[in-house]
Amino acid sequence: MSTAVTNDGTGLPVYPGVRDSRCPFDLPPEYEAWRLGDGLQRVRMWNGRTAWVVSRYEDVKKILADPRFSADPARYPQLSPAGMPPVPAFPRMDDPGHARLRLMLTKDFTVKRTEAMRPRIREIVDRFLEQMIAEGSPADLVQAYALPIPSLVISLLLGVPYEDHEYFQQNSLVINQAQATPEEKTAASASLFGFLMELVARKEREPGDDLLSRLYAERVVTGELKREELAMNGMILLFAGHETTANMISLGTLTLLEHPEQAARIRETDDPKVVAGAVEELLRYLAIAQDMIWRAATEDLTIGGQEIKEGDILTVNLPAANRDPAFLPDTGDVFDIGRSVRGHIAFGHGIHQCLGQNLARVELMEALPALLRRLPDLRLAVPLEDVKFRHDMSAFGVHELPVTW
Ligand code: HEM
Repeated sequence: MSTAVTNDGTGLPVYPGVRDSRCPFDLPPEYEAWRLGDGLQRVRMWNGRTAWVVSRYEDVKKILADPRFSADPARYPQLSPAGMPPVPAFPRMDDPGHARLRLMLTKDFTVKRTEAMRPRIREIVDRFLEQMIAEGSPADLVQAYALPIPSLVISLLLGVPYEDHEYFQQNSLVINQAQATPEEKTAASASLFGFLMELVARKEREPGDDLLSRLYAERVVTGELKREELAMNGMILLFAGHETTANMISLGTLTLLEHPEQAARIRETDDPKVVAGAVEELLRYLAIAQDMIWRAATEDLTIGGQEIKEGDILTVNLPAANRDPAFLPDTGDVFDIGRSVRGHIAFGHGIHQCLGQNLARVELMEALPALLRRLPDLRLAVPLEDVKFRHDMSAFGVHELPVTW
């Protein structure tokens, strides 16, 4: 397969690249060439400007830990595909502003807190699994299982009425879609923000046992946090918490269906460590956050022998970095649930490393084995070549996953 290039006369490659649908787990071939060359490749980004793609494991880690790179579109407007959000969002801020807002949320996402949610998550998984089975085979696993589980989990955690899930799923989809215009993204983001502002007002009148009500009582009332900041934190969590996990559930299922011996090991084990190891390997191997991390250089500097100018934009190629031989000698392209992949960077690295990673792990550890055990005969209902992949989305995955059992 040849490298896809833009047809705007620059000849620059497109990032993310398109994968071959006959072997969707293989990365676009140009990624390896980029890693072997300077490690940095100039590409065209959504807004017509150019950016650097960083593909080596060590370079990605260095950049994400280096305060000379900014995530803040208020400083570097070219960082934002959708113009400025209604109020600044902490994933798109630098420290100390970022740390101030993130630290108010960390205690809700510790290993202890997310483990405490496990029984509830298990109930949610069983509920959607039984519902899918009752509705009958075949089914679209994305709509019946992969999306509703993280949607309901994050809705419960935040105190968002689950009845509204279709509304926020639709808006998140637009925000996540590389093809959506900046105007469409801005409109979807403003609409979602309005919804969250109304919800915060409701929590003020009728507090519940949830994250938004707690932060309202502990931080807004004391004057430490503005209402708009709380609404934006809620929007970020709602947004970050379900699309990513949903894609991991559906793509993870597909990976396991394509590797039946490894699926059988998960189905048959009663050792949670085996399942935890499998989830880590899926996270590493799939590295779905293909187009989520953007930074701007705040000064002139050199990476991998390449000069970067102040204001240059960089994106990190997590799929390529997680398979870099410098991280996993010779076997990065192999899917193997039995090995240790400690140090993978599917959740990013540095100060912006995923806040929800412990929650995502618990959701995956519950959702994947339950499906394999309850439906041992689960298989694709269409040929693999007919599955529609999300090549152009920030998070790689599938649009639909028709399955039968
Ligand atoms: C940040 C991936 C699930 C909330 C990130 C980043 C990645 C990532 C790569 C780094 C972004 C950057 O450096 O700019 C994933 C994947 C997930 C997942 C692969 C599922 C398997 C979740 C969940 C939540 C969440 C379930 C919340 C409930 C966040 C937040 C940030 C973030 C708030 C921003 C952190 C900051 O800037 O300090 N995620 N994520 N994520 N994630 Fe996740």
